[in-house]
Amino acid sequence: MRSWGPFWLINHASADDMNPLQRRRLIERHRDSLNLHGYAPDALFWQSRGLQKVLFRVLADIGVSAGDSLLDVGCGFADLHSWLRGHDLSVDYTGIDLSPEILATGARMNPGLNLLCGELFDFAWPPRSFDWVVLSGTLNWNLHDDGGYARRVITRMFELCRQGVAFNMLDARKFSVTQLGDMQAYDPGSILEFCATLTPDCRCRSDYLPDDFTIYMRRA
Ligand SMILES: C[S@@+](CC[C@H](N)C(=O)[O-])C[C@H]1O[C@@H](n2cnc3c(N)ncnc32)[C@H](O)[C@@H]1O
Repeated sequence: MRSWGPFWLINHASADDMNPLQRRRLIERHRDSLNLHGYAPDALFWQSRGLQKVLFRVLADIGVSAGDSLLDVGCGFADLHSWLRGHDLSVDYTGIDLSPEILATGARMNPGLNLLCGELFDFAWPPRSFDWVVLSGTLNWNLHDDGGYARRVITRMFELCRQGVAFNMLDARKFSVTQLGDMQAYDPGSILEFCATLTPDCRCRSDYLPDDFTIYMRRA
């Protein structure tokens, strides 16, 4: 099954989709990792719960307020939803994730939460469907496409937001090729330059971890 959720949300295959082979690999990788670790940050390839929470804090700092609607791209177990609620920021949350197994675990832990299986281009939401569209760690895998998929995701995220977009990436200036292995890091300046083609109101934050950066994009 490709997607859970109302049938009208399901998009047909488009040129923006992730390469099918990469998609299968990512799904398998996360299934293996969930089998190994169970519900734990390690299953999502996070080093620690603390790291995951730092990233959530920085995403929320864009200005998420209680009652806003928010789409979480690559939501994992929907831990962001729990984190926001724990900080008096209950939002109208939608999470999507490629991995059916990760998502099913998240759904068991968060009954009734709107969790949909798939990638961004599987869903035909109209423009400006959510106040905020956020992403944490989802673009860290190397898809061997020179960042093309990441740029398409950023573009679509911005199209879907009413207020803004926040996403994080690994900082290419802080990693060697060997350290990265299967992971993908990006040059913050190049990503910011790309984002500026979508909105003049964008900024890069790199004051929270030594090897990561977060981009905030707002509707001007
Ligand atoms: C590092 S984990 C982070 C999960 C969650 N954002 C968090 O911080 O707890 C990345 C998640 O993104 C999912 N993922 C990877 N590529 C994706 C894509 N293109 N579209 C949707 N989900 C994706 C993976 O299955 C995984 O659950």
